[in-house]
Amino acid sequence: MRILFLCLGNICRSPAAEGVFRSLAARADFPAEADSAGTGNWHVGAPPYGPMQVAARARGYDLSGLRARQITRDDFHRFDLILAMDGQNLRDAANLTPEGARARVEKFLTGQGGASDVPDPYYTRDFDTSLDIIETGVRDLLARLQRAQ
Ligand code: 4NP
Repeated sequence: MRILFLCLGNICRSPAAEGVFRSLAARADFPAEADSAGTGNWHVGAPPYGPMQVAARARGYDLSGLRARQITRDDFHRFDLILAMDGQNLRDAANLTPEGARARVEKFLTGQGGASDVPDPYYTRDFDTSLDIIETGVRDLLARLQRAQ
């Protein structure tokens, strides 16, 4: 199972989701590959945003080795699942989806019992609330993937 987490800049939400997923999947012994990307190209090559790295590190997630990249058409053939952090990311991904894509493109959050968008902490400045939502979302995702295994 190959999963790509997608947001706008690939410096806050999707690298955090990638780091949390890698950590929780390893702890659960769930065999999956994770990566992340952005729909935009402003931060290509940059590490995750400093305040997000600090907030994640406080919870035991080291995001320092990640580097931002922009989603490519090839990603739709390489990944099984592309998970969008918000509705705009989902619409942008839908518009990029090539013919014969392998990946299912969905929202990261199912919306059950709450919002289906991960608030962008680059704008809200509330990194902990976004991380709370991302941790809950990753646990839900892992539970769904394990049931489908
Ligand atoms: P992200 O947050 O999509 O969660 O990485 C953003 C980071 C930077 C920008 C937008 C969103 N920006 O426009 O620079």
